[in-house]
Amino acid sequence: MAKVRITETILRDAHQSQAATRMRTDEMLPILPKLDQVGFYSVEAWGGATFDTCMRFLNEDPWERLRKLKAGLPNTKIQMLLRGQNILGYKHYADDVVDLFVKKAIENGVDIIRIFDALNDVRNMEAAIKATKKYGGHVEATMSYTISPVHTTEYFVNLAIELEKLGADTICIKDMANLLLPYEAYNLVKQLKAKIKVPIHLHTHNTAGIGDNTILKAIEAGVDIVDTALSPLGNGTSQPATEPLVATLQGTEWDTGLDLNLLSECAVHFRGVADRLSKEGHLVPKVLGVDINTLLYQVPGGMLSNLISQLKQMNASDKYYDVLAEIPRVREDCGYPPLVTPTSQIVGTQAVLNVVFGRYKQFSKETKALLRGEYGRLPGKVNEEIRKMAIGDEEVITCRPADLIKPELDKYREEIRPFYEQEEDVLSYALFPQVATKFFEYRQAQKHNIDSTMLTEDKTHPV
Ligand code: CO
Repeated sequence: MAKVRITETILRDAHQSQAATRMRTDEMLPILPKLDQVGFYSVEAWGGATFDTCMRFLNEDPWERLRKLKAGLPNTKIQMLLRGQNILGYKHYADDVVDLFVKKAIENGVDIIRIFDALNDVRNMEAAIKATKKYGGHVEATMSYTISPVHTTEYFVNLAIELEKLGADTICIKDMANLLLPYEAYNLVKQLKAKIKVPIHLHTHNTAGIGDNTILKAIEAGVDIVDTALSPLGNGTSQPATEPLVATLQGTEWDTGLDLNLLSECAVHFRGVADRLSKEGHLVPKVLGVDINTLLYQVPGGMLSNLISQLKQMNASDKYYDVLAEIPRVREDCGYPPLVTPTSQIVGTQAVLNVVFGRYKQFSKETKALLRGEYGRLPGKVNEEIRKMAIGDEEVITCRPADLIKPELDKYREEIRPFYEQEEDVLSYALFPQVATKFFEYRQAQKHNIDSTMLTEDKTHPV
């Protein structure tokens, strides 16, 4: 069967990439019965930045959202994005935290876990892969796509072979910055299909305006599953839109078989949501345009806007293009890490420091950690001179970084005791201690309000 399957991303990456992850649960629930009828391969609906945003900006419990999504999508697989040993946070966690997180994600409704590591260090993905298998989930092992002298087609094919051996049920090419050009996509997918037995899943964006072509060439090369987003939140910094692809493939050997009328009905709902997000300033027209800078400088779109605001804070806005030119140099000195959270922030900040204070006159804490091996193995050769300047004679970590972290769950459980309502709270707190505590306080206050209202009502209307 050459039929192409589609993962719909409107409930996760689409609003994360276009609208600061601000879609609320109550804006998702009414359309779930229709989405559930479409016949998507999966709906990406959880993980990434949604977890943090739920608590931080929406006063929602991300676990409660997941349970409601599961109830509304009985026939469709729910997919999430997980950053390996970082889970959904910015540091490495102990294996016991990774294990419990994966267990609870699956218990509460996740079917497919897309597991990636910013450095493509497979050791940082092992614990999450093992846990997903243990609790009966589907492992989508992921390769963070980037361009460098190290990141050849052969590199990615070898990486995919390694991930398949670790038990991947599908393998994802994650092109977060829309760097994968259409003919390279064709070439890469062809070679993967020749060597890999499990299905290949392509994730890209339309930031540089080439995402549609990349997807089409990948399909011609035999890719099995692709990510798209319904048109109201599709294109630009988000995924290429779902409906045009479905229309494009109609009547071909890759026909998705999805019903355009049904998709259009789903789109009507999300157009309303997109309008709300625009009115509140979360969705700005800029994210919908074609941004070729991401291709020229090989950096993700989000990183460019971060740089602009960093430079503004330092009163150095005129240095923007100097920083863009410095990024490839820092990246080379650090052994060509792919630029995705958290490495995009680390390399970007170091480039800013180099331009503003002089090259490597100052190192950020994170650059030192990266060069010390705290994030894992760097893909290429590190510039040893620069490493020495950064960390002196300190020893470089060569083992799996999480091997140095003792179990952490008991400590977290103890710390949140006053707020504990469900085992999942321990995980929310472990990942985002301050944000979660504030959310727990809000939750307690809400409860207290409801209780006291009921008490007053009891007094005035005794029954
Ligand atoms: Co993405």
